[in-house]
Amino acid sequence: MKRNLGPVNALYPSLTTIIGAVVEGRPNFLAVAHVGIMNHGQPQYLSFGINKAHHTNQGIHEHREFSVCIPGENLVVQTDYVGLVSGKNTDKSKVFELFQGELAHAPLIKGCPVCMECRLAQVVDFEAHEVFIGEIVATHADEGVLTEAGKIDIARVRPLLFDMASVKYWSLGAEVAACWSVGKELKRAVRG
Ligand SMILES: Cc1cc2nc3c(=O)[nH]c(=O)nc-3n(C[C@H](O)[C@H](O)[C@H](O)COP(=O)(O)O)c2cc1C
Repeated sequence: MKRNLGPVNALYPSLTTIIGAVVEGRPNFLAVAHVGIMNHGQPQYLSFGINKAHHTNQGIHEHREFSVCIPGENLVVQTDYVGLVSGKNTDKSKVFELFQGELAHAPLIKGCPVCMECRLAQVVDFEAHEVFIGEIVATHADEGVLTEAGKIDIARVRPLLFDMASVKYWSLGAEVAACWSVGKELKRAVRG
């Protein structure tokens, strides 16, 4: 028996990221868990929805560039902090050690194992949120989280998963099965 909870967003857990932009001349960061992948392929885009009242929006509109970094579990305190306080009244530019990539206004966080630089492609206007869509220009990954084939190994990244119902950060669990593979037996059985 299922209970209808109404229009509750149950698309959790989601990846916790830290979005960075340059606002009023200084880097500003906020925690963002409402992220998405768009146009899997080339160009590669990503999207995220943030409240129009946030400080970071201003810098993204002004410079049309931003960063998306993936913190590991070791950065849970700093990640939560930049999701608790606003750049409107707190300078968050010194929370992380930064590095420069290709874009001048996409501040990148050294301590995050994976960081992306994005150029703003589109903004979609909703009642409370603006959805920013960015083209990924470059992705910087620590050697230590890469497989021998040069792919990002999420088991080594140890991402923070965000859950709205429990309002908690969760860890990645164990792998379950191989994608586009474990269903093949059923596919064969259905086809006969
Ligand atoms: C784990 C976590 C995830 C968050 N995800 C979002 C989000 O997806 N969208 C949003 O608008 N705010 C989100 N927030 C809230 C902002 O990070 C927070 O309001 C921040 O202080 C805004 O900073 P700014 O005003 O300096 O831009 C999240 C906060 C936390 C702690």
